[in-house]
Amino acid sequence: MKDFGYFQVGSVRLREEPARDECFKVVRRDTEMNEYGGDGEQAQRESLHRHMSNEITSLDIAAQCLVDYPDAPWGLRMELARQCWDEARHVALLHRRLCEKGGYKGEFPVSAFEWSVTCAIPDLPGRLASQNRTFEAGAMDVVGGNIDAWRAAGDPQTAEVLEGILADEIQHVRFANRWIKHYVDQDKRTLLKVVMAVRLVAEANAALQPAAGDVNAVGKVMEDPTERIPAVNIEDRKLAEFSDDEIHEILRQAGFRSLVSSSAKEARP
Ligand SMILES: [Fe+2]
Ligand SMILES: [Fe+2]
Repeated sequence: MKDFGYFQVGSVRLREEPARDECFKVVRRDTEMNEYGGDGEQAQRESLHRHMSNEITSLDIAAQCLVDYPDAPWGLRMELARQCWDEARHVALLHRRLCEKGGYKGEFPVSAFEWSVTCAIPDLPGRLASQNRTFEAGAMDVVGGNIDAWRAAGDPQTAEVLEGILADEIQHVRFANRWIKHYVDQDKRTLLKVVMAVRLVAEANAALQPAAGDVNAVGKVMEDPTERIPAVNIEDRKLAEFSDDEIHEILRQAGFRSLVSSSAKEARP
């Protein structure tokens, strides 16, 4: 089995990327990615390609947790195995949609940032706090906001794919919240592991994310990182069993911007 080494960014030690097919160019910084502004065809394909790559990374992380923690409780291992199945399906769905829109695997650079952070964490509660409770919960916010945007751009098929993916992601975040609570109930010191994990995520973000005014590989001027924080998907975070206090703190960090659900919008006069 491949032994994954580490790499250093400033004071932060991160895990080397997993193998990727030859067609992919793997980069480490957002400025090396090809994120385009707007909703042109190229921007849409790149968004699908980036999301597809992130789903591959989620699959790798869940699978690596199964390998690294064979003694974890059976119920948690089953959740991680089901997550692998879900993420594999998400990759296939997004790949199909990418091809339908004229794109192809390897069309744009990819990164494995979430793997590099999460797999640098030496314990399972910390990895769940990083990947499921932070990155995937953040993806629920992003995807929740993108669904309406795809419809507005005249692409209801992609919106429907994202709705299906979002339903699965809620469960990935929810089981992590449940199992972290279980570990903390058994041993309060687990909270320290969770805090260390969240701190590593913050340090890695600070070390690798673009600053306001940086220009990416396709000439897009990057916004200030605080302006890239998505509106909070309160409804789905509740379904994923974040507490009201936790949601309030997440809202505070997002400048109290939240998504308004389609059903709530329809209910408005
Ligand atoms: Fe997924
Ligand atoms: Fe997921």
